[in-house]
Amino acid sequence: MTILPFLLLPLGSLAAPQLGGGIFDGIGDGGLGGIGGILGSEPMTPESVSDLEPKLRPGAKRTLIRWGPYKMAGYEEEKPEGTIPSMDPNGEGYLSKWKEGICHDCTVLGGVIGLQMENGTNALDNGVYIHHILSFDRTKKTDSFVSRCPTEDGKPSGGLGGIIDKIGGLMGTMFVGVGEDNGNDFKIYSNDASGIKSGFHIGPDDEFFANIDLVNYNPQPLDVFVTMDIEFVDGKEGFDAYGTLLDVGGCSMTPINTDPNGPVNTTSEKFPILADGAIVSAIGHLHAGGEAMVLAINDQERCVSQAEYGETSSVIAGMSQCLDPIQVVEGDYLTMTAIYDLKAHPGSEGGGDGGHGGHGGQKKRAPQEGGEGEGEGDGGHGGHMGGAAMGMFDIIFALGAGEAAATAA
Ligand SMILES: *[C@@H]1O[C@H](CO)[C@@H](O)[C@H](O)[C@H]1NC(C)=O
Ligand SMILES: *[C@@H]1O[C@H](CO)[C@@H](O)[C@H](O)[C@H]1NC(C)=O
Repeated sequence: MTILPFLLLPLGSLAAPQLGGGIFDGIGDGGLGGIGGILGSEPMTPESVSDLEPKLRPGAKRTLIRWGPYKMAGYEEEKPEGTIPSMDPNGEGYLSKWKEGICHDCTVLGGVIGLQMENGTNALDNGVYIHHILSFDRTKKTDSFVSRCPTEDGKPSGGLGGIIDKIGGLMGTMFVGVGEDNGNDFKIYSNDASGIKSGFHIGPDDEFFANIDLVNYNPQPLDVFVTMDIEFVDGKEGFDAYGTLLDVGGCSMTPINTDPNGPVNTTSEKFPILADGAIVSAIGHLHAGGEAMVLAINDQERCVSQAEYGETSSVIAGMSQCLDPIQVVEGDYLTMTAIYDLKAHPGSEGGGDGGHGGHGGQKKRAPQEGGEGEGEGDGGHGGHMGGAAMGMFDIIFALGAGEAAATAA
């Protein structure tokens, strides 16, 4: 997975209305969009909203919102007209507008997106694969805190990167999401232990877009439900925090190095920091075979997000998260290093063996995987997107919190 598709997603979401009928018409089922859903008409009504016990801060509120059903065709069935293009040949994409159920005039401390079957079990255990589910607060305008396109000298370029950075924040602000690998823990917008008060501020009337791309590996159609689990407090608290996703390959999508004989590093060019504040959390994303993602500011190592392998040496079970605040000022630059070790993780072959590691080791991608009988459709999938190693960082930044970070440190 490269960053560019991610960059273009919010733009795509907003461009949708201008594209006119065609692909955005007739999503039909359950009111899951269609051009009307994206234009002025009503956001989707949640299927359910329930309260959960807070896990970041005692006394905070925590809500699980469920939207759906999203109706999926069987694996080899023709996908219904009107579904937005998927980044997978057998996938289905959906574009939804969400509002109700999500807290408003509130500060989100952390959250995560999930995918369930009707009975609440994890859809990933039922032969459904998440390519990505990304949400955007389309009402919230923010300035990019880091350029999406790195440069050789760490100074902002006037080119593509500059344009993307300018448009980016005007189009809305990335909110919780989930990608194709396993670095998908709770996104942390506020970490009380850091001594900094921050959070993703949601305004009283904010609307959200969700860009959903899934693959149903079952031959038969099925219904799935997208969930958003957010912990929050009422009102605006502390510094506004929001995130971005950066790719080691930068905007030129330089490939990641791997070597079957041992560890090898790939370091990015320099991503210019564009605003003063603090990085309050950072978590890496790697495909199978990856060891760690390292984040440095002005060439000083500040965060190592380590891959944790599960029962096999070729499936990443999770990534460690960095929660010590890192002060940054405009003019600094950020670099990332992806460390892969294919020798230590045989079978991963750079993240694209078409087996477990094919998509970065999302667990139980297809029911037939590892079981008796067919594992064939799966292999094809691994070859498609997961064929290359990848390295990304999910970074949450609190605008203006630099001094607080320095004091806290
Ligand atoms: C939930 O639904 C799935 C898919 O329909 C089914 O396979 C599973 O057995 C169900 N689980 C429970 C606990 O009912
Ligand atoms: C790879 O990066 C890590 C972390 O920055 C460093 O400790 C290690 O020495 C590097 N290895 C090579 C071969 O450059």
